[in-house]
Amino acid sequence: MRFFSVLASASLALVASAHPGPHVERSHAEMARKAKLSGRCEQHVAQFNAKRWKRDLAGPGNTTVQIQTQAPHYETLQNDTCVLTPEVTAGPYYYPRSQTLRQDMTEDQVGVPLWLDIGVMDMATCAPLEGVMVDFWHCNATGSYSSFTELSPNVNFPTILAEEGKNVSDFVVGSTDIHTDSSTWLRGMWPTDKHGMMQMKTIFPGFYIERAIHIHVQVHTDWTTRENGTLVFENTVSTGQLYFQEALEEKIMAMEPYASHTQINRTRNDVDMEFSKGTKNGYNPVVSVVAIDENDLSKGLIGYITIGVDTTAIEDEHWSAS
Ligand SMILES: *[C@@H]1O[C@H](CO)[C@@H](O)[C@H](O)[C@H]1NC(C)=O
Ligand SMILES: *[C@@H]1O[C@H](CO)[C@@H](O)[C@H](O)[C@H]1NC(C)=O
Ligand SMILES: *[C@@H]1O[C@H](CO)[C@@H](O)[C@H](O)[C@H]1NC(C)=O
Ligand SMILES: *[C@@H]1O[C@H](CO)[C@@H](O)[C@H](O)[C@H]1NC(C)=O
Ligand SMILES: *[C@@H]1O[C@H](CO)[C@@H](O)[C@H](O)[C@H]1NC(C)=O
Ligand SMILES: *[C@@H]1O[C@H](CO)[C@@H](O)[C@H](O)[C@H]1NC(C)=O
Repeated sequence: MRFFSVLASASLALVASAHPGPHVERSHAEMARKAKLSGRCEQHVAQFNAKRWKRDLAGPGNTTVQIQTQAPHYETLQNDTCVLTPEVTAGPYYYPRSQTLRQDMTEDQVGVPLWLDIGVMDMATCAPLEGVMVDFWHCNATGSYSSFTELSPNVNFPTILAEEGKNVSDFVVGSTDIHTDSSTWLRGMWPTDKHGMMQMKTIFPGFYIERAIHIHVQVHTDWTTRENGTLVFENTVSTGQLYFQEALEEKIMAMEPYASHTQINRTRNDVDMEFSKGTKNGYNPVVSVVAIDENDLSKGLIGYITIGVDTTAIEDEHWSAS
């Protein structure tokens, strides 16, 4: 298997949580505008989802072989769209260098298998967006991130930084480097097909201190492969976080190896700071989940979500491949 790694260049202008002022201002106007776009695309989202169910029920390829979903799942079909904005933070465990081009990012991580079935829609045209790179990273069943395995998931971020001799007020996402190793598990990216869809196999994430269970996702346009096989990204149109329903989380967290994470209490969606930002203006960042076997969740879950991206709000990021 070929691995591609992507390295952020020094000129990166990433949105940093450390600069709330102007971004907050812009964010409100942006979010209101996107909420309008989102509503306008409702019918298209429904059609988009209907096609997706059909495709999965037909069971193409090996990843969906075990999927035995039945008609009742249409009941969970949602017409609202998860619109991920560039203003949602990529968080401290953002490390593009370890993002790897593949459709199964599990590696050796233990947990409940999760097939993410993602649709990407251009909110400007309500049409599926082909050929955009969808990029994920999340923690393992007990809260650790690859590339940061030496940082404890049970210690809050300012304390971790202090231990590293850094001050949290100086931390800038994408430029303050606190990675501890080069492991790549639970980090992966894959482009959308002509129907605007892509699938990524992973495990259901666990949790770390002060955060609800989530998966980071970015959508990049204008990516190209170089002759030597590395990737170059010119633009990021969306940076967001995906969540799950509390009732499902409760069930999964009661299973091993998740249940062994007892050092801290899990933060619920309803009290998570980032979650409330993601649900404003009618956005729905909660993944619709179908269990492969309702009576045995350990067999795996299929998670569906449509990411509406605003191609007119491009974060002009210049990436260079390593
Ligand atoms: C969702 O869209 C479908 C098809 O366009 C429509 O029939 C249905 O009423 C919509 N449902 C909701 C809850 O808006
Ligand atoms: C699909 O799965 C079968 C059985 O596990 C395996 O023999 C085959 O190589 C797989 N095909 C692909 C394309 O991965
Ligand atoms: C998660 O990753 C950490 C750091 O590598 C590791 O110590 C821990 O065992 C992993 N959790 C599970 C459930 O494998
Ligand atoms: C971190 O920086 C802020 C602002 O520069 C300062 O007020 C604070 O005392 C510093 N904290 C530590 C632990 O150095
Ligand atoms: C978790 O929450 C319970 C109930 O509020 C509390 O008794 C317990 O001490 C907490 N555990 C940890 C590790 O914080
Ligand atoms: C690939 O090519 C680019 C541009 O020429 C170069 O900067 C990069 O180091 C190369 N990477 C590898 C792994 O060869």
